Amino acid sequence: MNVVEQDANYVGRVKTLLGDDGFAQIYAPIESGSGLPNPAFSSQEWFALEQDRIFRRYWIFAGAEAEIPKTGDIKPVEIGGVPVILVRGQDGAVRCFQNVCRHRGSRLVSEHCNRKTITCPYHAWTYGLDGSLRARPHFNGPDRGDMFRAGGGCMLDLLPVRAESFHGCVFVDLSGAAEPLGNWLAIIAEDLTAYDLASIRWAGKLEFEVAANWKFVYENYIENYHVFAIHPRLTDFAPMDIRGAGKWRGNTFKNGYSFPKEEQGRGQGMPHYPGLSDEDRARGIWFLTMPHFALEVFPDQFTVLVAYPVAPGLTREELHVFLIGDEAATGERFADGRQEIFRMWDDLNREDLSVLPLLQQGRKCPGYDGGRLSPHWDGPTLEYARKIVDLIVAA
Ligand code: FES
Ligand SMILES: [Fe+2]
Repeated sequence: MNVVEQDANYVGRVKTLLGDDGFAQIYAPIESGSGLPNPAFSSQEWFALEQDRIFRRYWIFAGAEAEIPKTGDIKPVEIGGVPVILVRGQDGAVRCFQNVCRHRGSRLVSEHCNRKTITCPYHAWTYGLDGSLRARPHFNGPDRGDMFRAGGGCMLDLLPVRAESFHGCVFVDLSGAAEPLGNWLAIIAEDLTAYDLASIRWAGKLEFEVAANWKFVYENYIENYHVFAIHPRLTDFAPMDIRGAGKWRGNTFKNGYSFPKEEQGRGQGMPHYPGLSDEDRARGIWFLTMPHFALEVFPDQFTVLVAYPVAPGLTREELHVFLIGDEAATGERFADGRQEIFRMWDDLNREDLSVLPLLQQGRKCPGYDGGRLSPHWDGPTLEYARKIVDLIVAA
């Protein structure tokens, strides 16, 4: 087990939900060990534990800054079961607030929108884009003026949520106590120093609903074993060597491959990161930083895959594609290449989504105990199971 300071209460809860054997099996050597047992994928209690201990305590990707480019753009999103909004302010900054009115607690924003102010749909309390309470109409009787002091740090402003950006990706930390985002993503940043991340531009996103537990998305993401059966056309999209399993370092998994020759690989003909070496121009790298930030970097791309748990057997997935430079991301000249990249991701992802619900359904069989794993391929998957438990029990 990784060395983390543990909260004994949560260790106890994890053991109760997984069973002592189910807990022990994920720490055994891979030859005799086993993945997470069924309750980790199907139990409502386990789901609530993950929402509380993982999605409300660590840095969670909430969207791309470019999804809300203009002042007043608002994106509602649910993180760890908590509705929040990302808001582009008058000053151009992106802020995050809990999506709740301070009066009687109505949800404020239900759809992606643009607003001058945020007015509650119930009794019309109105907030500025900076979250400050601006008006409470009729609060002291019909057409009677209000008594609160606007702009004075009113105690009834929207509840802020800690938010920070990494190259146009907005992360939120509902606990307000996670380590700085820069530390959390340090391994990715270190490993990408050769890539000019200032050049990436958001080109759009794909959304998917998956009838499977969110962890299956990542277990699948970090193993190459399924490529033979599920992605037989992958060699058309991206000729690659998939013989190896990747490695974990701290909170981040990394894998990669080289294309057989330069100019092959994803998005042929699209602009590359400026100044890349020949070696990097013929390489793909992919990462997973716990708990859910999956990132694929190719010479022409920075693509983010994030899964949001909705229920034990239901997940919402977003795939954000960033390309290199404005023209690649939005210009007419690269429209075909861009479309090809989105089509490729859509196809590839749907191939994965065709099997993930089967994993969910299989987990209803009580005789399944977490399985026997391939020492060649499944090591990172077993380590992922340990990291899930680590996140939950960490003090
Ligand atoms: S609940 Fe929002 S104004 Fe009443
Ligand atoms: Fe896959």
